[in-house]
Amino acid sequence: MSQFELKDEQNHPRDQVPEFTQMVEQGLSRRRFLGGAAALGAAAFFGASPISRAIAAATGNSPLMGFKAVPASTADTIVVPEGYKVERLISWGDPLFSNVAEFINNGGNKAADQAGQFGDNNDGMSFFPVDDSTAILAINNEYTNYELMFSHQGKNMSADDVKRAQAAHGVSIITIKKQGDGWRFEKDGKYNRRIDANTPMVISGPAKGHALLQTSADARGERALGTFNNCANGMTPWGTYLTCEENFNGYFGTDGQVELSPALARYGVGAEDAGYQWHKFDERFDLAKNPNEPNRFGWVVEVDPRDPSSTPIKRTALGRFKHENAELVIDQDGHVVVYLGDDERGEHLYRFVSKNKYNPDNQAANRSLLEDGTLYVAKFHNGPNGALKGKGEWIELSFGKNGLTPENGFGSQAEVLIHARLAATQVGATTMDRPEWVAAHPHEPVVFCTLTNNKNRGTKDNQPVGGPNPRAENHYGQIVRWRPAGGRHTATGFDWDLFVLAGNPEVHNGDLYAGSANVNVDNMFNSPDGIGFDQGGRLWIQTDGNYSNAGDFAGQGNNQMLCADPDTGEIRRFLTGPVACEVTGLAFTPDQKTLFVGIQHPGEELADSHFPMGGDNTPRSSVMIITREDGGIIGA
Ligand code: FEO
Ligand code: CA
Ligand code: CA
Repeated sequence: MSQFELKDEQNHPRDQVPEFTQMVEQGLSRRRFLGGAAALGAAAFFGASPISRAIAAATGNSPLMGFKAVPASTADTIVVPEGYKVERLISWGDPLFSNVAEFINNGGNKAADQAGQFGDNNDGMSFFPVDDSTAILAINNEYTNYELMFSHQGKNMSADDVKRAQAAHGVSIITIKKQGDGWRFEKDGKYNRRIDANTPMVISGPAKGHALLQTSADARGERALGTFNNCANGMTPWGTYLTCEENFNGYFGTDGQVELSPALARYGVGAEDAGYQWHKFDERFDLAKNPNEPNRFGWVVEVDPRDPSSTPIKRTALGRFKHENAELVIDQDGHVVVYLGDDERGEHLYRFVSKNKYNPDNQAANRSLLEDGTLYVAKFHNGPNGALKGKGEWIELSFGKNGLTPENGFGSQAEVLIHARLAATQVGATTMDRPEWVAAHPHEPVVFCTLTNNKNRGTKDNQPVGGPNPRAENHYGQIVRWRPAGGRHTATGFDWDLFVLAGNPEVHNGDLYAGSANVNVDNMFNSPDGIGFDQGGRLWIQTDGNYSNAGDFAGQGNNQMLCADPDTGEIRRFLTGPVACEVTGLAFTPDQKTLFVGIQHPGEELADSHFPMGGDNTPRSSVMIITREDGGIIGA
């Protein structure tokens, strides 16, 4: 992600920082240097809030967690607690079928190989049980690292290279079998399938067929080819998988002349791509030829993992933005509620509420629940006196309401959804510190969202310090949580607080950059990203942060996975990843005795990793299997 983010920032700079805000920021920095940042709200740590419960947690007696924490690590391996075991399930390039070539080091494969191999940069994933010894894992493949994928490192691309990169994106659906020693991937398994950047899919919901979705190849605006930059995920109680399209903008570009709409600019689409070079060999990605093609990406896609011949469905009712995950809950009245993050500095947090209700006795009818409903965006109100808690509300994004009218540039509900970011700005939504995953507690009406970091906080005039985004130049990140009013996920109002402010108490002292009281030198981390609950109510946190282990990040080591007790606030480090990886993607078996964890892009930018095969092998993104030697429940 860091590599993409850098390129994206270089190629598609968003609104320039006005001189005035630069002056404001200089003032902010000076105040911080003088220790004045404490005045922003440190007092709230000591009030009678859940944060004070977090302070109690620092004693380390959580009844939920029974493992011994692991130290930070810079080694090129995975470290798990004593009594735990880690094995490899599958890696980028492993053939899903026996008639497909094996992975070849140093970029030796062709596009035709990759089409039947496990995709690259595995990210979010879900476990679907079939029977006692069979299950399906649906796994996102977010993007590619050209420096590892091609011997020329992307400097001499060909048409086959672009096809190969396209085939490494999307989703890998794999059959897994429980054998004597645990879960194993089954080559040629009946559910095995690759969905990639060229797989036919349908566009459904309120934006289907809109003029902005029409292209020369699809004059009706109803059928798209493929999905890519599939970041995180969700699963439904009716057995489908949700794959979320994140940084789609970086795949489009042109060498021709094109005048792009302000809406495309808001989504980061520009003449220069993020370095993938697809538009040079595939005119679908050439903006001068197909200016509407980017509007067909940035959606949540619903996939039936049990039917390899099924057509994936782009669900436009859930809005178009840089989706992170899709956390689905059934409210007590039966409405389906989906919480959705838009991962970019200063973007927003969304909620979808279905029009119709879930019916456990009619799974066929449930299949259309994401077709129709209402999209909302979050507005967080500042707490009193800078407290790190307060009230918030969901604002409806419906055509004709809240200023979403033709006078303000919205001609229909389809346009509100295609331009959801613009609609969110129109209604005054809170700009956030990059909302990544959302996780809902399995037994209580409380929801958590990672705000991974935001170097622009306090420097851009639309991103002031305040509310759940309390630190200027926030490079550590935080996790916000909210309790819906009356315990109802469909309610308009909520109460929020911060579960944790990541930080570095070794480098910073006495200000918010040291982190909240539940962060200490033994569990510190930066940039929380993937999160998810297990059925026992443990909150699992994965990081996609700065792994330099130096400066502000000294002592934090490689990216990692932690476990938290949402009641006491205690956070304990569970796993450390190999060199230059991100830890992202988690799925538990229903018995909670096996945990699948994703290791993404070890050795990115040619860092010194050969994970997982060792020796001189090319490093490869992989899904790992974690179990306990005594067969017990993970984390307990
Ligand atoms: Fe794909 Fe925002 O992480
Ligand atoms: Ca990421
Ligand atoms: Ca992420």
